[in-house]
Amino acid sequence: MSTRGYPATGPAVPPWTCLRLDAVTKVFRDTRGGEYTAARDISIAINRGDFYCLLGPSGCGKTTLLNLIAGFEPVTAGAIAFAGEAHGQSWRRTIQGPGVDRAMIFQDMAEALFPWLNVEENILFGPRMAGVPRNAYFAKFDFYLRMVGLREDAHKFPFELSGGMKQRVQIARALITEPEVLLMDEPFAALDAITKRLLQQELSRIWQETRKTIVYITHDLIEALLLGTRVAVMTAGPSATIKCELPVDLPRPRSATDPDFVELTRRLETLLHEEVHAASKVISEVP
Ligand SMILES: Nc1ncnc2c1ncn2[C@@H]1O[C@H](COP(=O)(O)OP(=O)(O)O)[C@@H](O)[C@H]1O
Ligand SMILES: [Mg+2]
Repeated sequence: MSTRGYPATGPAVPPWTCLRLDAVTKVFRDTRGGEYTAARDISIAINRGDFYCLLGPSGCGKTTLLNLIAGFEPVTAGAIAFAGEAHGQSWRRTIQGPGVDRAMIFQDMAEALFPWLNVEENILFGPRMAGVPRNAYFAKFDFYLRMVGLREDAHKFPFELSGGMKQRVQIARALITEPEVLLMDEPFAALDAITKRLLQQELSRIWQETRKTIVYITHDLIEALLLGTRVAVMTAGPSATIKCELPVDLPRPRSATDPDFVELTRRLETLLHEEVHAASKVISEVP
């Protein structure tokens, strides 16, 4: 654990392993018999309470990896599992498809929300579908609505919301189902720069309050360092793998001008630069 202020607030989280990827490989096959290996032999152990940022150049396989964890796509080889220890016994639960233990927050906010439902109905859709009685989730609804700063907006429909507000709805909708892991695929990439920074700060605070395990995909190095407890750099595809993992032990709220932050930025830049270069080479070599 850090001596530099992390964790700043929130309950202590026991560092047992929560989510494991063991030698995961994903090969896409097209209808003409062609193959594309998007990810090869990836092993990751994400501890409970980690804010795990996966950073990599565009097209390297980040979304593919997140879709595998979400269970939207089957792995070609290897396994993804929740694992841990309870009462001296170790346990393991392999992921076989989508499940309520994982919630996804998508980049494309236009498609993520139901346009015919208002904010409240969008957020409560999951618990209602699961048949949870109203009195069991209503206090939670109020709690998460406050957490994402939408108390005055519960009656609004998606067309009345800004991009940032839509992403807040997505976050509340995911949190209310109380998943073990939040999966976020470049959720702020389509927002303007100011809204993006604001939501990054809010997400950092929400993570401190909830200590939710988060797997966060981004191609933005500064974003990864503002948010993550660990940043993993993916290699350029094909056959992407994890090049390295860097612990980020800076106090929150973080500032990109803090000297320690700048130092980490430089290190990550060097690591990422090679992969961006490799990715652009692959693209320029396509006939
Ligand atoms: N369903 C699919 N079928 C075939 N190839 C795919 C499929 N999904 C993704 N790919 C390929 O896998 C690679 C990684 O894609 P993706 O995971 O979306 O990258 P990223 O999210 O890092 O930008 C790309 O070359 C993409 O074309
Ligand atoms: Mg992607």
